[in-house]
Amino acid sequence: MTTTSRNAGSSAPVVIVGAGLAGLTVALQLAAERPVTVLAKRRLDEGATAWAQGGIVGVLGDDDSVESHVRDTQDAGAGLVDEHTARFIAEHSAQAIEWLVKRGVPFSPDPQGPLGLHLTREGGHAVRRIAHAADATGRAIHEVLLAEARAHPNITLRERWMAVDLITSRHLKRDELSRCYGVYALDIDSGRVETLPAAAVVLATGGAGKVYRYTTNPDTATGDGIAMAWRAGCRVGNMEFIQFHPTCLYHPQERSFLITEALRGEGAQLKLPNHNGEGTRFMAAHDERLELAPRDIVARAIDFEMKKHGVDYVLLDATHLGEAFLKEHFPTIHARCLALGIDIARQPIPVVPAAHYTCGGVVTDLDGRTDLPGLYAVGETTYTGLHGANRLASNSLLECVVFGQTCAASILQAQSEPLPSPPAWDESQVENADEQVVISHNWDELRLVMWNYVGIVRTTKRLERALHRIKLLKSEIDDYYAAFRVTRDLLELRNLVDCAELIVRSALARHESRGLHFSRDFPRTLPVSFPTILSRKPKKRDAWLP
Ligand code: FAD
Ligand code: SIN
Repeated sequence: MTTTSRNAGSSAPVVIVGAGLAGLTVALQLAAERPVTVLAKRRLDEGATAWAQGGIVGVLGDDDSVESHVRDTQDAGAGLVDEHTARFIAEHSAQAIEWLVKRGVPFSPDPQGPLGLHLTREGGHAVRRIAHAADATGRAIHEVLLAEARAHPNITLRERWMAVDLITSRHLKRDELSRCYGVYALDIDSGRVETLPAAAVVLATGGAGKVYRYTTNPDTATGDGIAMAWRAGCRVGNMEFIQFHPTCLYHPQERSFLITEALRGEGAQLKLPNHNGEGTRFMAAHDERLELAPRDIVARAIDFEMKKHGVDYVLLDATHLGEAFLKEHFPTIHARCLALGIDIARQPIPVVPAAHYTCGGVVTDLDGRTDLPGLYAVGETTYTGLHGANRLASNSLLECVVFGQTCAASILQAQSEPLPSPPAWDESQVENADEQVVISHNWDELRLVMWNYVGIVRTTKRLERALHRIKLLKSEIDDYYAAFRVTRDLLELRNLVDCAELIVRSALARHESRGLHFSRDFPRTLPVSFPTILSRKPKKRDAWLP
């Protein structure tokens, strides 16, 4: 039986799942007026935000304009960018940078630069428009916002709390139009699943890069928000467009370390390894913009050259930029590579493409609203139309700030209503899993299947093979989920397999090659194309309407 508490709507906190740039922006914007609880399933500083290197777009320079940024976003997005969204983001970029500067983010300075900031450049950008903190921009931003959130009396930060599933009308056995009433969350240290009622829930869980064997992403990137929203009946868009970053360090001890695109922006060159150790440039054969072509083109070119020449990596040569410049602008990369025995001022860096960014996700409007009343989503978890078929570099951090702000504003405007108290988590599964190896085995298998069959170059046969394997894995994982006490590994695997299925089903639905989706069976780009939007059939009790 469920009971209704009259004041739950106004007194229940807003629960934000995720403590990256998206989640913290929403939290800080809400906290003056509403109690906020922020969940992070690992340490609070773990997530893609703290790993971001290159920077964040700001349309700030005299040589720049909203039009120019919109055009570059559209060019990179290969015809699937929603112009309205791109314009909204470009128009709000300057104030987003100012918002961060005002909070104390230590961007690299340039007394002659706009707002006193140094701007760098990355692939696909017509001009220098990337504000950055040397090559550790994300860490600089995250440290400042996290410190402010920690100090705020209205913000409760819960570290090592993992959202399991959204609480919807189905859990309350109600027949009316579905709504989100909160989340079930696993307190990882106690092993208990708690019920967190919420006036609104915001999914800010980042992307799903861990679905691939090789990725630049941190361990948090298991697509939890996308999978939870999908299971709750929300639409999911453009999941076939997984961005592979061209330059992830190739080193046996360091599989996920990104070599920022800003290095190419400053002149580093891609080369094929050869006998004399000098290397041969190859980008001229692929695109007139050479190393500064959009990411999908550069990643595909590297993949092509690696396969053609049977090499395990290509080289990124920055030696001509000089030691002093490299140490000043890329101190993190310089130090990390040196610790691994690569002096980037004297040797080219071995690099390979790796899964980097999830361009698709939960469908939202420009205020972060999803299909489910009471449920919002922001950041890499979402599909807003901004990235189209391929994200322009450094647009992601910007999207987190701009839509984090609009999402908070729309939560504040929403009418608070009395909410029923959701039922407690069903504790009948009290047994621990019999064999943990099933989880680790399935985890490895899933990521390998995705890497081998759903990578940079796809075929229908490979995608069908992947779907077949995914369905088998999914049924095994669902059985496990139903039978045993939940753990973080099991929940992450459950979410990854849902995301893998969404990626493959979306890829199979696209009968053309465009942006990040390249199929040998459909090599042409169709003259007219649309986003891929998947929707589940509503369950009887979840009377959700598309
Ligand atoms: P994240 O920062 O990934 O945060 C996700 C949060 O959700 C974490 O706190 C995590 O613990 C939490 N979480 C996830 N699931 C759950 C759950 N079930 N329960 C509780 N908590 C959960 N973009 C740019 O614009 N510029 C760059 O220079 C740039 N460089 C990058 C470099 C690297 C190496 C990587 C990986 C990405 C880079 N990106 C860059 C992309 C950008 O960093 C991310 O898209 C962005 O930071 C995503 O922010 P977010 O807040 O959406 O998610
Ligand atoms: C990078 O620094 O190369 C990553 C930038 C991004 O992902 O936007």
